[in-house]
Amino acid sequence: MTGRVIVVGSINVDLVVAVDELPGPGETVIGGELVVHQGGKGANQAVAAARQGADVVMLGAVGGDDLADGALDALADEGVDVSRVLVSADGTRTGTALIAVSSEGENQIIVAPGANGQVLPEVLETVDPAVGPGDVVVVQHEVPVDVVERVILDAAACEATVLLNPAPARAVSSAVLAHVDVVIPNEHELAALVGRPVPTDRDGLAEASQALGGPMLVVTLGSRGAALAMSGTGGDVNLFPAPEVEVVDTTGAGDTFVGALAAALTRGEPIERAVDTAVQAAAISVTGAGARGGMPRRPRT
Ligand code: RIB
Repeated sequence: MTGRVIVVGSINVDLVVAVDELPGPGETVIGGELVVHQGGKGANQAVAAARQGADVVMLGAVGGDDLADGALDALADEGVDVSRVLVSADGTRTGTALIAVSSEGENQIIVAPGANGQVLPEVLETVDPAVGPGDVVVVQHEVPVDVVERVILDAAACEATVLLNPAPARAVSSAVLAHVDVVIPNEHELAALVGRPVPTDRDGLAEASQALGGPMLVVTLGSRGAALAMSGTGGDVNLFPAPEVEVVDTTGAGDTFVGALAAALTRGEPIERAVDTAVQAAAISVTGAGARGGMPRRPRT
């Protein structure tokens, strides 16, 4: 039996406006029509894993407002188990992201966390059957830091495989990182982890991997694909180029990568193959609008 993907993370509603160019500080730009998509890094990763055929449990929180049902239904429609998602009882709103997408497909995102701030540190204990070896636990930085840290420690204690997507960027203590199996930053997030900008050539990534110590390092490089630095291999870095695609919207590409990687690991794919699977899925995801619009489904074999 394959394990589950258990995602602890944010559930947002995305308010999206297309613009010719992203505004600079102090600048106002006129955009297109407001479009509402379902989003949140955690929820997007759960959907990406489900579309790759994984058995997925979502742990997070929504508000007691009119956005909550849509957010939960969208997950349930993808086959994600939302039975343990907390519904806020105190009037807190569902997490909301304000997103501008440029004609080049680049984005700017501001998140109002709302109910995502109410996820409890001991949330992994609510999973039934209990988390165990074979399960892949995925967490990102859109829930409070004490939740992220406790989930990593609890998941490691249960002998699950622990994936940390440190997005948005913030530092992580080496004591916590030591319990992570695979850390998946982009270039900015890698700089926050290491404490300095990191050149994304083989030498730079090998050095960054040594500096991070324990976990395998998988760096997403946008249209260039991804790089994998195995821990303890004396600096071996493998590069996985992405196919060329027509970019519509890069929102959620990193989430697609993480969800697809998690799903591949539950199938027992070796890490190199799992990273390649994730690169292909993330490339396809940018060809559709919205965080989940281009997320691919894995053909049933
Ligand atoms: O990674 C993309 C996601 O970031 C969006 O869906 C938005 O909700 C923010 O969480």
